Amino acid sequence: MPHTILVIGAAGYIGSIATEILLQEGYNVIALDDLSKGHKEALFNSVHFYHTDFGNIAELKNIFSKNKIDVVLHFAGAALVAESMENPFKYFNINFCQAQNLLDVMILFNIKKIVFSSTCAVYGIPKPEEIPIKESTQTKPINPYGESKLLFEKALEWYKNSAELEYITLRYFNVAGASKNRGERHNPETHLIPLLIRAVKNKNYGLNVYGNDYPTKDGTTVRDYVHVVDLVYAHILAIKALLNNKKHQNIYNIGYGHGYSVLEIINSVQEVFKTKIPYKISNKRPGDPPVLIADSRKIKEDLNWEPKLNDINEMISSASKFIV
Ligand SMILES: NC(=O)c1ccc[n+]([C@@H]2O[C@H](COP(=O)([O-])OP(=O)(O)OC[C@H]3O[C@@H](n4cnc5c(N)ncnc54)[C@H](O)[C@@H]3O)[C@@H](O)[C@H]2O)c1
Repeated sequence: MPHTILVIGAAGYIGSIATEILLQEGYNVIALDDLSKGHKEALFNSVHFYHTDFGNIAELKNIFSKNKIDVVLHFAGAALVAESMENPFKYFNINFCQAQNLLDVMILFNIKKIVFSSTCAVYGIPKPEEIPIKESTQTKPINPYGESKLLFEKALEWYKNSAELEYITLRYFNVAGASKNRGERHNPETHLIPLLIRAVKNKNYGLNVYGNDYPTKDGTTVRDYVHVVDLVYAHILAIKALLNNKKHQNIYNIGYGHGYSVLEIINSVQEVFKTKIPYKISNKRPGDPPVLIADSRKIKEDLNWEPKLNDINEMISSASKFIV
């Protein structure tokens, strides 16, 4: 019997690609999304879809009573740093309070395995000597987005101690690229690669580079870009570890261990599309760390994560098909 995975946030960027790959790998998938940010077309016809908020207790009870779910993948949430500074209430409500409803109903139905999408924003601004960032690096978020994700990480640990919840938190760095059939389409878009591709396709869009005097190789911020398909395979390894009681840590960083500056990404996009992209240097954004690079050795050692798509040009060209 194939295992059944509930994908929360299945109409979003990473959740839809996770659904696609889970189906390829022979899992049963049940999809949940409130379509607040995701796209109906990103769902799969063969997958039963629940159009609801993941914090809706009555709906969750309905879903869990009708389906035998083995593992929950929790991709959904609010994920815009700037918005979180203006409206922290929304972030604590969705990413923490609503997510706690989910945990409570899971426990009520004896569903005790969850993989949670967290973020490198939990680390705040790491010191230069803390790069590459280990899971043990101090967490010190500097915005409500990172703080709300960290709070839920901590709740997971308490539920583990008190309710025998089994969980794996994956702290993603910068996710990029696309699968064969699904890609990135955020609204509003804040991610660098899609913004650049949009600027290539539509000459009305330019690009702001926020700050060029950071202590980095060319003065612009440096990020660790991880291919979404490699990231999804990290989830599949996490699912297997939870299902097979494989020894694991509860928190893993997901990145490649090296970074690209904003100017390097601009150059790569220009190279891939053989065109110039206009950009202007703007003021630094408050709270933008100079460098975020992951140390992901732990998931490689424990779960044998073997990323295969560490190629920035591939991330750019695969993403392009889905960006208008
Ligand atoms: N994309 C990245 O680079 C990145 C980096 C670090 C962490 N993350 C985390 O990964 C997760 C997925 O990111 P993404 O880029 O796929 O985002 P996304 O916005 O494309 O997808 C999130 C999905 O969740 C749904 N959703 C939001 N609130 C909901 C609610 N209350 N109930 C039900 N559905 C709801 C949205 O409609 C959307 O389809 C997020 O939790 C984000 O914080 C993403």
